[in-house]
Amino acid sequence: MCGIIGYIGNQQAVPILIEGLKRLEYRGYDSAGIACYDTEKGEIVRIRAVGKISELEKKLRDTVIRASTGIGHTRWATHGAPSENNAHPHKSGPFVVVHNGIVENYRELRSKLTQEGYQFTSDTDTEVIVKLMEYLWNENKNEWKAFQKTIQNIRGTFAIAIICEHLPDRIFVARYESPLVIGVGEEGYYVASDIPALLPFTQKIIYLNDKEMALIKKDNLEIYNFNGEELEPKIELITWSPTLAEKGGYRHFMQKEIFEQPRAISDTIKPYLNVEKGIVSLPYASALENVFNTIERIIFVACGTSYHAGLVGKYLFEAFLGLPCEADIASEFRYRPSILTPRTLVVAISQSGETADTKGAIKVAKEMGAPTCSIVNVLGSSLSRMTDSVIYTHAGPEIGVASTKAFTSQLAALVLMALLGIQIREGKTSDEEFISALLEIPHKASKILDSSSQLEKWARPISKAQTVIYLGRNLLYAVALEGALKLKEISYIHAEGYAAGEMKHGPIALIDERVPVVCLTQRGFFFEKMKANIEEVRARGGKVYLVADELLRKEVSELAHELFFVPSTHDLLIPFLFIIPMQLLAYYVAVEKGTDVDQPRNLAKSVTVE
Ligand code: AGP
Repeated sequence: MCGIIGYIGNQQAVPILIEGLKRLEYRGYDSAGIACYDTEKGEIVRIRAVGKISELEKKLRDTVIRASTGIGHTRWATHGAPSENNAHPHKSGPFVVVHNGIVENYRELRSKLTQEGYQFTSDTDTEVIVKLMEYLWNENKNEWKAFQKTIQNIRGTFAIAIICEHLPDRIFVARYESPLVIGVGEEGYYVASDIPALLPFTQKIIYLNDKEMALIKKDNLEIYNFNGEELEPKIELITWSPTLAEKGGYRHFMQKEIFEQPRAISDTIKPYLNVEKGIVSLPYASALENVFNTIERIIFVACGTSYHAGLVGKYLFEAFLGLPCEADIASEFRYRPSILTPRTLVVAISQSGETADTKGAIKVAKEMGAPTCSIVNVLGSSLSRMTDSVIYTHAGPEIGVASTKAFTSQLAALVLMALLGIQIREGKTSDEEFISALLEIPHKASKILDSSSQLEKWARPISKAQTVIYLGRNLLYAVALEGALKLKEISYIHAEGYAAGEMKHGPIALIDERVPVVCLTQRGFFFEKMKANIEEVRARGGKVYLVADELLRKEVSELAHELFFVPSTHDLLIPFLFIIPMQLLAYYVAVEKGTDVDQPRNLAKSVTVE
C-alpha cells in the first residue's frame, strides 16, 4: 500500500522525509517522491523517481533544497502504471498532494475539471484531488475552506496531505478509511501512514480518526471533524523504541520477527493473565462480559495469515466453549448475506487493523446488529475503533510483509479470549495444567529457534521445486495452510496447504518424486491417520519432510526422508510450535532463491484497498 510522510518545523525537511519513506518501504511500493517548499527559491520543489527510494536519493544528490515544510510518498500503483509521471506528489497550481487510498469518483471529477479547462498530466485517481483543490480555491481564495470542500467532494478512501506554495507554513491533512498518524516532536510536527515512520523523531502520537482533518503549523495543530467542529487532540505515547523497529542485527526483518516470537507471545499473554488466580482480564474488552453469556455462535473474519489464525480460533473455541464457530475469509463474508443475529459474535483478526476487507466485514456485522471484537497489533488502528471490544497483541512493529510474530501473538490473544469465555460462561478459572502449558510456550518456541539450522538443509532441495504440498490434520491443517502461504508469498514457489484426509480425494494425483510434501503430525489420535497419509505419499514417490512431536521420535524414524521435531505441548497449543519451522523453512527457501524477503514482489504489508 502507499505510504505518506510529512514534516513541518524547525529542521531541514528532506532528510526527515527520506528517513520516513524508508521506514514505510515495507508497505510495498513501486515509485516514490517528495515535495518541499524551498525557502531560498520561494517555490515548491518536487522530486519523483520510479523504483526504490535509492533512486529518489540519487536525484536528490544533485539538488540542494532548503526547506522546513514538505511531504513525501511511496506509491503502490492502483490507477496508472508505475512511472515518474504517476508518482506522487501531484501538483496543480500552488497545491501539492500525497494520497493513500482510492478516489472512487475520480472519473466523474476528472471530466468535470477537464470541462473547466484543467489539464491532467497523469493517469492517477489522486491528481483529481489537487486539481479540485485548486478549482475550489480559485472560487473563494480560502485554502482551508477549499480543502474542506475538496474532502467533501471526493468519494472513496483517503489519507491526504497537501502543502501550498503561497502558504508554506502549514500542512493540510485528512483521513477516511486509510490510516494517518500525527507525530508531535520537539522540533515540529510529523505526519505518516504508520507509526514506524515516526519513531526516529518522536514517540508522541495523535491518531487522526476517520472523517477528521487537521491544519498543522510548525508550532500549532488544529483538528476538526468533517463538519468543521474543532476537536481536542489526544496525544498517546508509543512505547515501541526506534531500535525495536530496526533489524537488530538480523539479515531481514522477517528473520528478526521470527526470532522475536518467544518475547511477542510472552508480552501478549502477561498483561492479560493473572497466573496465581488463573484469571484472564482484557481491559478493552469489557463488552465481552455480557456478550459471552448470550452468544450462540462465533465467526472469525480475517484475511491471509490472520484468517489462518481465525481457523485455529475456530478449533480452539469449539473445544473450549462448545459453541459453533466459523472462520471466514473477510472478502467472502462481507458480500454474502450472512445470517447474523445479535447472538453471533463476529471477531476480526488483523495485524495492521487497517485491512479493507476485514473492515468491510465488521461494517456488515455492525449493520446486522452483531456484537463485534477485534484482535489487532496496532494501537488505535481503524479496526480497534470500529469494534465493541478490542484485544491488542503486543508483538511490536511487524515490518516484514510476511506475517510471523503477529500470527503467534494472535494465537495467544485467541487463547486468552477463549479462557475469558470459559470464565464468563462457566464461572471457572483457567485450568492450571493448561495455564502452565501456555506459559511454557515461549521457552519451547526458543528451543525450536535454537535448532533452526536443521531447516536450512531442507531449503536447497525445496527451493528447486515447482510446487510443494503441506499436509496436516485438525489444528495442524490451519498450520499447513499458513506454512504454504509463507512459502508462496516470499519464495514465489507454488504451495498448497491441505487437510491430509483430503489427499485421496484428488490432490494425490499431484504426487511424484518432484513434489516435496511437508507433513505435520501431532501425537495421539491423529498420528495414526497422518501415518497412513504419509505412507500414501511415499508410495507414489513423494519426498516427505516431516515435522513431528518429539515424543514420536521412535515411531517416525523410518517414516520420512527428513525429520524435524518440535517440543510436546498441550493438544490445543500445538499451532504455536508447529508454525515456527514452517516460517523458518519459507525464510530459508526465499534466501536460497534470493527473493526480496521483507518486500516480496506484488505484495503490501497492509492491504488498505479492496
Ligand atoms: C501474511 O504473511 C500476508 N502478509 C497477508 O496475508 C496478511 O496476513 C493479510 O493481508 C492480512 O493482514 P492483516 O493481518 O494486517 O489484516
